[in-house]
Amino acid sequence: MNAAVEQYGVFGHPVGHSLSPFIHGMFARETGQPMSYRPYDVAPEEFPARVREFFANGGRGLNITLPHKVAAVELSHELTERAAHAASVNTLALHDDGILGDNTDGVGLVRDLCDNLGLAITNRRLLVLGAGGATRGILAPLLELEPESLVIANRTPERAEALAAAFADLGAVHGANFEQVGDAPFDLIINATSASLSGEIPPIPPSVIGSDTVCYDLAYGKSATAFVRWAEASGCARALQGLGMLVEQAAESFSLWRGVRPDTAHVLAILKVRTGSS
Ligand code: ATR
Repeated sequence: MNAAVEQYGVFGHPVGHSLSPFIHGMFARETGQPMSYRPYDVAPEEFPARVREFFANGGRGLNITLPHKVAAVELSHELTERAAHAASVNTLALHDDGILGDNTDGVGLVRDLCDNLGLAITNRRLLVLGAGGATRGILAPLLELEPESLVIANRTPERAEALAAAFADLGAVHGANFEQVGDAPFDLIINATSASLSGEIPPIPPSVIGSDTVCYDLAYGKSATAFVRWAEASGCARALQGLGMLVEQAAESFSLWRGVRPDTAHVLAILKVRTGSS
């Protein structure tokens, strides 16, 4: 007898652009897991009721994307340590004793940086641009790798300083505004602002980019993001967008749900061709 097909999906608003159904569809086919995965456009005011309804109707797991990642913390009966650190949830899984909230974004970024791109973080100088939810989600996994230092720079420096204080027990982390980041090149610069969405670039001095600096935009698009174009024009070693992080965070959610780790290289290669990205 065939195993029953179990229901998964992604809740977002909007969600039409999401690549998650394609990624999880590929993972399910390639691992032979009996599951379906659908996008659900859920308005913020409906979010709690729709999550409860999804699980009450037999759903097994959800990805949570903008703008619901913080609201999903409240709906979780239990949080993983990394979700508690991130104060946001991108994955819900139905367990025997309720709904588990996890956050796989940070580990997804680290897997892409270290495993796919072969970059070192340990003893390196890191600059993270932005001090919102995206930054909060990646700080703990980055600091666990013990960089020499990690500077958070933000348009509103108080938010960067508050985040640095909240994570100070995990490593050498400092908050600054864009102008205060110094003029020595960093090893790795991660853009976690939402400025890319409007085609803007955080106003950091070009001197923070040297010929060995790698730049990584958490955002991704059909063509290079404004930050990636700016980084390339400023003479960095490599500039990348966050498609690899997207696929790796999906693989981590899939493993949590199904207990099987899918191969990411094949899916990432197909997506790069489909989206025409680097
Ligand atoms: P997210 O969950 O995507 O991080 P967020 O919590 O709203 O969203 O945070 C957005 C981040 O992008 C913030 O760091 C924001 O800076 P402020 O804290 O000063 O608002 C940053 N940001 C948004 N638009 C920006 C722009 N045009 N230039 C520079 N930083 C920008």
